[in-house]
Amino acid sequence: MNNDEDGGPRQPIHDGEFDVWTKYSFIKGQVPKFHCNDPVGLRLIEEQNPVILTGSDLVATAFKWDLSYLTEHIGQGPFAVFCHGVSTSNDALSASPSASTTVQSCSCPQNNRNNHKDNHNHNGNGQGSSKIKCEGDDSLNKKKKVKMESTSINIFKYFDDKKLQALQDKSTFQQDIVRTEMSFEDFLNKFKGDRSKERVYLQQPLNNTVGRQIAADFVGFNWPWAMEKQKEWGWGPLTSNLLLIGQKGNITPCHYDEQQNLFCQLQGSKRFLLFSPANFRCLYPYPVHHPHDRQSQVDLDNPDFDRFPNFRQVESLEAIVNPGDILYIPMYWWHHVINSEDTIAINFWHKAGPNTQIEYPLKSRQKVAMIRNVEKMLLEALQDQDELANVLHCMVDGRF
Ligand code: OGA
Ligand code: ZN
Repeated sequence: MNNDEDGGPRQPIHDGEFDVWTKYSFIKGQVPKFHCNDPVGLRLIEEQNPVILTGSDLVATAFKWDLSYLTEHIGQGPFAVFCHGVSTSNDALSASPSASTTVQSCSCPQNNRNNHKDNHNHNGNGQGSSKIKCEGDDSLNKKKKVKMESTSINIFKYFDDKKLQALQDKSTFQQDIVRTEMSFEDFLNKFKGDRSKERVYLQQPLNNTVGRQIAADFVGFNWPWAMEKQKEWGWGPLTSNLLLIGQKGNITPCHYDEQQNLFCQLQGSKRFLLFSPANFRCLYPYPVHHPHDRQSQVDLDNPDFDRFPNFRQVESLEAIVNPGDILYIPMYWWHHVINSEDTIAINFWHKAGPNTQIEYPLKSRQKVAMIRNVEKMLLEALQDQDELANVLHCMVDGRF
């Protein structure tokens, strides 16, 4: 019953179950699918358009990675697991995780090669997209009335802990998920537990702590193909391979990354909504200095059109990615990821290649990069996040 006619919030259909096939009127087409040897598909990737490649043996040695194989072979860990719904803490201003969790920075480049998916506190609101009106501390936030949203238990909305520490007005931030480290066995217990109470999403970069058999499978990936394509497509070096194990209904909400991504589906299916970088004005990303940098402020299932009027113009493609498929997610393309089943996947994140000759008119992705740099430079000069907004308004309002 998600996103019903009157735009109701995402609701569980049964305890712990969410509709994974919500109809969105902004989906305008499907991401094209090509056999991995089809030059048309490869050309589209070179031009930084999303494509699904089929029939690839890039990660064929990992097609057998199911939960029992991983349990036997993945090793001692620990593994990075995001948890949602564990505690009942609702303290929007608290930046410290519960005492029972280990908190470390995450190397997933959702935050441009810096750490981002860090310390997550949690809130135990359970399902439903409950809203908390948070007017903030009177003495601190007289001027600002900030509406805080606490996400539904299936929404894994990441944040950058360093940016949280540096955030001046913490009332603009609500921490919902917590990043913990645990053994694979402990993860599996949670994975198989009551999904209406707690949900988990394992997101662990593969490293040299994995067991021998997994390491052998990894070495057996088609690295010659990966290296040839990296060169052909002008990409920079591989930065990481993230292993993702998600529960049906888990959602990674709409965000973009600053890396090229070959997303390889191993088990179960995922539904991606992909938005080109031209949708920047429709998706209202948080400020670059905000812990939710690179993520949309808009709740796709319950958009607030008063705050985000341009969302009416948003347009996306859809990609249903099945085991054996590889989805290319171009750098700066927004993606909203719905686990339509329990899933296992591994991605390949690459840095951007060196700049080729600049051609005009500039591409949307180049303008996004410019906007990010202007924001960073202004903040660096001003040293004050509130001043940044004032100066930007002063520059534009009534002038342009
Ligand atoms: C990614 C990503 C999230 C997911 O690979 O960049 O955002 O849930 N993945 O698969
Ligand atoms: Zn991503």
